[in-house]
Amino acid sequence: MIRTFFNNNRLTLSIAFAALVIVPLLAALVSSNDSTPASPTAVAVAGVAYPRNYRQDFTRYATVQRPDGTIRDLYINPTGLAGIGYYYSLPVGTVIVVEGYNALKNASGDYVTDANGHYTKADPLPSIHVREKRGYWAAADYTSSARNDGWNFGSFDTASGAIYNESLNACFLCHNTAQVDFTYSTDQMRDYASTGVPDYFMCRTTGRTACE
Ligand code: HEC
Repeated sequence: MIRTFFNNNRLTLSIAFAALVIVPLLAALVSSNDSTPASPTAVAVAGVAYPRNYRQDFTRYATVQRPDGTIRDLYINPTGLAGIGYYYSLPVGTVIVVEGYNALKNASGDYVTDANGHYTKADPLPSIHVREKRGYWAAADYTSSARNDGWNFGSFDTASGAIYNESLNACFLCHNTAQVDFTYSTDQMRDYASTGVPDYFMCRTTGRTACE
């Protein structure tokens, strides 16, 4: 009886210690390691959430270079990564990010390329594009009546992570014409699943038009 009481007290003390000392310590460690943009509280909760830490936690599966001088890195989260290459459609919980850059130009205005014809990254594009698949979205999570099954879209300011002011309707309309699961880069995902090396894809078209 006394022993149980003593053990329970020790347990209570350990929990208190964890709550008062370890948890704040961990929180401080996590936030000090966090190199992604500040002010996550500025992001609205409805719709697609800003995927903080995608550079650390997600996997880059492809880079797309276009003749208009843009470079885009495509990242997928662990849930999506576990599903790529194996299923026709990506699993619920998949989050994919497109982070873009303008290509560096030399003094004569030509894009600087390496031996493989790859551009050099200069300034980042103003927004990152995000797609997230869930089993359920509420009406308040959408900005228009357009739907792509379980997918929803988000656009966030590259520097701050705040919601970027652009129409998400265009995302739905364009991705609606993608051949597999509203996703354009399925081939790049499959390549990554079999090789483990991110595809460097030279797209021949400009803007956001589908590559051949
Ligand atoms: C006119 C067509 C078009 C529009 C509009 C468009 N996209 Fe895309 N998107 C593409 C293409 C094509 C790709 C393939 C990668 C590439 O070429 O950069 C792509 C790739 C993506 C990917 C990577 C996964 C995938 O589907 O391949 C995400 C995430 C994404 N877009 C989000 C968005 C968001 C968010 C918006 C709206 C703010 C948007 N897209 C608007 C054409 C479009």
